Amino acid sequence: RDVAVVLGTRPEIIKLAPLIRLLGERARVVHTGQHYDSALSGTFFANFGLPHPHLLLDGATGPWGRGAQIGRLTAELARAFVEDPPRVVVVQGDTNSTSAGAQAAHYCGIPVVHVEAGLRSGDRGMPEEINRLVVGVLADVHCAATEQAAANLRAAGTAPERIRVTGNTVVEATLMSLPDPADRDRIAREHGVDGPFVLATVHRPENTDRPERLRALLTALAGLGERVVMPLHPRTRAKAKQFGLEHLLDRLDVTEPVDHPTFLALADRARLLVSDSGGVQEEATVLKKPLLVVRTSTERPEAVTAGFSRLVEPGTPLLDAARAELARPDAYDRLRDTASPYGDGTASARIHALATALADGTPLPGTA
Ligand code: UD1
Ligand code: UDP
Repeated sequence: RDVAVVLGTRPEIIKLAPLIRLLGERARVVHTGQHYDSALSGTFFANFGLPHPHLLLDGATGPWGRGAQIGRLTAELARAFVEDPPRVVVVQGDTNSTSAGAQAAHYCGIPVVHVEAGLRSGDRGMPEEINRLVVGVLADVHCAATEQAAANLRAAGTAPERIRVTGNTVVEATLMSLPDPADRDRIAREHGVDGPFVLATVHRPENTDRPERLRALLTALAGLGERVVMPLHPRTRAKAKQFGLEHLLDRLDVTEPVDHPTFLALADRARLLVSDSGGVQEEATVLKKPLLVVRTSTERPEAVTAGFSRLVEPGTPLLDAARAELARPDAYDRLRDTASPYGDGTASARIHALATALADGTPLPGTA
């Protein structure tokens, strides 16, 4: 098992699952434990039939914040990599686990492959943006999902021969998880929705940790006059309770986080998606769904340019934009023929070829 795949949160598990499956016996799955609830972690291992982690750390975000978390994880990962060095370490995305995985590998002299490299929101207030910048400096091979992401890396001074445009692995993860059409209807009914509905997710600190913003967001959703199904991230549930906003949640169809096939079935059957998630911005382009992104900036402008998503502020702008979209007679199928900017479902195969070439010391496939 000479290719260590470091992951720690729900989206990392989902987006690295197709690569772990391709790596087979070569994959050493290292779970940082940042997400520890089965609804955010174990469920997705089961969804994709992944092996149990070969190493599981206790890396939840603690009271001392992300500095302590990244520092502790970096130390524990470095020790594991020194004791039993893999030939390559793969990290994905922009979480604190991603940063720790890249740092530990780099300081141990192990080459780093960064999956979903080159995203930039330009907002240094986002912890993810800082993680992207750090991993961008450390990675040896940058797997950019799009030409735009590759251009961001070149603009940051990354050597072009270390960049490959691979597409985003979320495309094949989505295609693997999406249930058959008949099952999508059944799943929607099991979640209490027979007619039109909106599917919403919220978990970004910019929305959850500011009471006035969370209140505006939930008030807009509750005032839509449409069923709103909302699988609730534990961070959002905790903050709604802390800020006394639970009465607004009572007006929505709130559920625990759902597994990946269920989420995609609901997303496919929804008329409109509302989210601040990164992965959902990409999945909307595979499912051909309109998405209102409740954010002030996005590192995924390709989905906006292609017409899938639009940035909105949480209060009246969200309400107005959602009503306008729901009033469109073509809301269900206006995006049906628009191609996803995130590729065709072959990103993991390309990344597999890159990671194994790096591990074997053979030339990197693909053109720079
Ligand atoms: C993290 C990532 C974010 C990613 C998201 C995916 C960072 C900085 N943030 O945000 O980029 O979009 O994961 O969902 O790495 N909690 C639980 N159970 C769990 C995990 C968390 O209850 O299994 C609660 C805890 O109260 C925790 C809070 O959620 O403090 C936030 O978890 P954390 O991992 O710090 O950040 P996320 O918001 O999940
Ligand atoms: N997702 C899921 N169940 C849910 C909510 C989301 O399976 O209840 C999936 C969704 O399909 C996407 C991923 O989780 O693939 C997005 O994760 P999240 O929004 O937590 O993180 P981000 O993508 O913003 O980093």
